[in-house]
Amino acid sequence: MTEHRSPDAHFRTSLLEENDGPGANPTDNQTMGEIIAARFSRRGFLQGSLAATAIAATVSPLALILADDARANGGSAFTFDEVEAGVDDKHHVAAGYDADVLLRWGDPLFADSPEFDPTKQSAQAQERQFGYNNDYVGYIPLDGSAEHGLLVVNHEYTNPHLMFPGLVTIVEGEAAKQAPLSKEQVDIEMAAHGGTIVEIRKVSGKWQVVRDGKLNRRITSNTEMALSGPVAGHDRVKTSADATGTRVFGTVNNCAGGVTPWGTYVMAEENIHGYFSGELQEGHKEAANYKRLGIPEGAYEWAAHYDRFDIGKEPNEPNRFGWIVEVDVNDPTSVPRKRTAMGRFKHEGAESIVAKDGRVVFYLGDDERFDYVYKFVTAGKFNAEDRAANMDLLDDGTLYVAKFAEDGSIGWLPIVFGQGPLTAENGFASQADVLIETRRAADLLGATKMDRPEDVQPNAANGKVYLMLTNNSKRKAEQVDAANPRAENAFGHIIEIVEDGGDFTATKGKWEVLLKCGDPAVAEVGATFSTATTANGWFGMPDNCAIDAAGRLWVSTDGQGPKATGRTDGLWAVDTEGEARATSKLFFRVPIGAELCGPLFTPDDQTAFVAVQHPADGGEDWEAFGRPSYYEDLSTRWPDFKPDMPVRPSVVAITKQGGGKIAV
Ligand code: FEO
Ligand code: CA
Ligand code: CA
Repeated sequence: MTEHRSPDAHFRTSLLEENDGPGANPTDNQTMGEIIAARFSRRGFLQGSLAATAIAATVSPLALILADDARANGGSAFTFDEVEAGVDDKHHVAAGYDADVLLRWGDPLFADSPEFDPTKQSAQAQERQFGYNNDYVGYIPLDGSAEHGLLVVNHEYTNPHLMFPGLVTIVEGEAAKQAPLSKEQVDIEMAAHGGTIVEIRKVSGKWQVVRDGKLNRRITSNTEMALSGPVAGHDRVKTSADATGTRVFGTVNNCAGGVTPWGTYVMAEENIHGYFSGELQEGHKEAANYKRLGIPEGAYEWAAHYDRFDIGKEPNEPNRFGWIVEVDVNDPTSVPRKRTAMGRFKHEGAESIVAKDGRVVFYLGDDERFDYVYKFVTAGKFNAEDRAANMDLLDDGTLYVAKFAEDGSIGWLPIVFGQGPLTAENGFASQADVLIETRRAADLLGATKMDRPEDVQPNAANGKVYLMLTNNSKRKAEQVDAANPRAENAFGHIIEIVEDGGDFTATKGKWEVLLKCGDPAVAEVGATFSTATTANGWFGMPDNCAIDAAGRLWVSTDGQGPKATGRTDGLWAVDTEGEARATSKLFFRVPIGAELCGPLFTPDDQTAFVAVQHPADGGEDWEAFGRPSYYEDLSTRWPDFKPDMPVRPSVVAITKQGGGKIAV
């Protein structure tokens, strides 16, 4: 986030997601974000003046007709009455809809799970409860149902200052201080990471969790996994705990992800650098590899208790993270597989689509300033008749990186050992080497440095692909290019890609900027929302997105707030077609301090699941809450504490009152 107030740098807030890349500008020049922040703070939004109130890619012909009808009635494909943008401590959804909390951090998933109690946390309890900081949300139907399925949710990271009562202390007139974590607290953090697979069912129009559903599962930072594909067994992934280079212990920082056409759950490992501490030995061969990824960053205290996170003691461990993880949800004892053919970087998501010839295409963002957009095309074809035949599709295929040309064309450059510069002269001895150092391979190929590529979503309805670029306040004027057209890009933009011939496997295509984000009323921002977009409808910092069954684009944001944009994060509906193109409307917004992840529409478009991540985060008292945002001394600092307060990360189900499709 760009404008968090953090009085103590020790707090691990979502500042981590600032992702200072190798191209970061070291100067102290005032950024566009700071200019805008000053403007919003003068307006006094903190006083609440405005605070009034993959399966999705399946196209339904009926839904398309309904969306077309809506467009005919005034241009937009969206018919809801938009929410008023603003800042407060509550959820707000458009009139006529309900936003019901379905799952919160600590909710029990199994018959023997303890109820959530922040004063009695343990790793054992957390392994049986819903994890922390929910990001990706996927829905896998059971028996083809849109009302009974598996919800798969990533738990990206942990905020100890929001999790552990008593960890933060305040001395009047001084910055808040966070104590070092105990081993027990580190163990809780490790158990709060990973993912949740949980059965859910809609009963009388409302979603319920099926506690102890037979496929319910928690995946954590200790779950045993397999490394598969070209890197499996390579010397660079062998450690003292795994002499074979094929067995990995756990997954971390699972940001967005995807559900494959064959119904598995894929988790993207993003900011892996924070988990590692220590120093490599002088002249170690991995030094340049780790520097390119910012390893070690040492934001977590895991290395104090577990040697594998200390790169001085276990120098190959970081090479076992930064992958896409695939989970077979049909068997709760299945071993998740890290699919190394899909490359190693700060993976944001992995949304996929079946191409015309049956091969499957995954779009992948590397979320760091000045990093790249990738896609992976499987070698084999999807077999809709035989699920088992698809289970190793992700071990064999071609990874490509995007080069956006000034003339509006895009080239997808293959990342293949032996081709172009990816040879022994540049230090690569095999495809395994190329994949372990995917970023360096892409550097050598001349890929386009982007403004933090987040979610990338193919749209089966119009054959296009939508790319969210969150922001890049470090881009200098001389670094501007056609695909990243703003210096000090504080608010991000969205690019639309059309692959040649509508073929998602194509190695060439066209692109254009759909939307430059930010306040259209401020000329210096250069936002390009349509003039039909209201003062509530514009947004900044696009992060995740979804395509509903009608083929419409929905965008969720990360990093807004009182100073940055005068509004909390939320879910915006964005027109992509016809005269209404680039019109945006606010559908849902979250409490202060939260980013909004997901979003995900059920196949019948009747539910939008969204993930409200780190509500109340910010490192100090949010005035809108009227209380501290972290667990301190509950009895004195927070006498009105209740477990359902919005400080718990949660998954929210949005449905239309009385039933029916969302917004059509
Ligand atoms: Fe975890 Fe790039 O957001
Ligand atoms: Ca994200
Ligand atoms: Ca984010």
